[in-house]
Amino acid sequence: MACQCLVNAAGYTFLALVGYKLLSVFIRILGPYLLFPGVDLKNKAKGGWAVVTGATDGIGKAYAFELARRGFNIVLVSRTQSKLNDVKKELNEKFSNTEVRTFAFDFARSMTRQDYQPMIDELNKLEVGVLVNNVGMSYDYPESLHKMEGGLDRVTDITVINTLPVTLLTAALLPQMVDRHAGIVVNLSSASANYPMALWAVYSSTKKYVQWLSEILRREYANKGITIQTISPMLVCSNMSKVKRSSFFTPNATSFARSAVSTIGKTDDTSGYMSHQIQVEIMGLLPSFVRDYLINSMSTGTRAAALKKKAREAKNE
Ligand SMILES: NC(=O)c1ccc[n+]([C@@H]2O[C@H](COP(=O)([O-])OP(=O)(O)OC[C@H]3O[C@@H](n4cnc5c(N)ncnc54)[C@H](OP(=O)(O)O)[C@@H]3O)[C@@H](O)[C@H]2O)c1
Ligand SMILES: *[C@@H]1O[C@H](CO)[C@@H](O)[C@H](O)[C@H]1NC(C)=O
Ligand SMILES: *[C@@H]1O[C@H](CO)[C@@H](O)[C@H](O)[C@H]1NC(C)=O
Ligand SMILES: *[C@@H]1O[C@H](CO)[C@@H](O)[C@H](O)[C@H]1NC(C)=O
Repeated sequence: MACQCLVNAAGYTFLALVGYKLLSVFIRILGPYLLFPGVDLKNKAKGGWAVVTGATDGIGKAYAFELARRGFNIVLVSRTQSKLNDVKKELNEKFSNTEVRTFAFDFARSMTRQDYQPMIDELNKLEVGVLVNNVGMSYDYPESLHKMEGGLDRVTDITVINTLPVTLLTAALLPQMVDRHAGIVVNLSSASANYPMALWAVYSSTKKYVQWLSEILRREYANKGITIQTISPMLVCSNMSKVKRSSFFTPNATSFARSAVSTIGKTDDTSGYMSHQIQVEIMGLLPSFVRDYLINSMSTGTRAAALKKKAREAKNE
């Protein structure tokens, strides 16, 4: 019967779609982290220098060490010269052949092209093969917009730090990469950008900006030899996340950066760490009302704990 055969066709199509979806999930989890062959970064970058913003702590510092280990000279950019000197010294002790330069720059106090020009000029004197747009700022704890810790100053800082450096530095360094027909740009976004996240309005949206821009630039520069990668991690131990003890789902910055750097050239868009990718894929399979419920209860729980701690500290003063 014709209608039986329609039912069969619908059934097989459904199975094929489910199979395809599951296969994509497994490839996204296993591909970049276990299956795909290694990539020669030096060849992909065709420039000896790697620039890392927000490089004196957390994930940025770990990227700097991992890229030095892979043979790149390093430019460290962050706010505090004393911290930059410390990290430079650590790098020199560990990798004696690596050249290290530092550039002190406050991304929160730099709003115009003129503010950036001295740094852009300095960077463009070097053959920059890798740019890691890592600098970023988050909330002290989840909160609705008008009650955010730090008020309007913090709102401004997060918005600027999470969007302007990544846009301006990429635009300023792309010309030399386009000339060489090679280069790697890594943008640090966040898994908080994957869904609209209540109580994280400014963080989640500015990180969405990073994901979106990277995706668009990939379309613009796909045939120009340039690798543009977005890394959207879940929790990593750092000052920002306030998580100190590492675990299966929360790696330290060193393990995280080693894993994330090894995915360059294998995938354009990933969380950077296999256990994070498992979490991301599970979130993606959940119905949106369940996902929203989970995200909301996590954020409100974190806020309640933070407010309690704040009250305790106020009492002790
Ligand atoms: N940790 C996580 O769980 C997590 C999860 C998802 C995404 N991320 C993203 O990963 C990136 C790095 O996060 P992280 O946890 O490693 O942060 P972190 O430990 O707080 O490190 C921040 C770095 O940025 C520098 N920095 C901060 N404000 C600056 C400013 N105004 N101007 C210049 N440099 C500044 C800091 O150095 P100075 O103090 O010397 O300036 C430091 O080197 C961010 O983009 C973040 O959004 C993190
Ligand atoms: C990263 O995002 C910025 C803007 O957010 C964009 O200018 C840049 O080209 C992107 N680069 C990569 C590698 O995604
Ligand atoms: C951690 O972050 C706080 C602000 O969020 C800052 O005052 C402090 O200096 C940071 N600590 C380190 C080690 O960077
Ligand atoms: C980070 O975690 C890895 C794996 O758990 C561990 O081997 C390493 O010693 C840790 N590094 C630091 C700096 O804590």
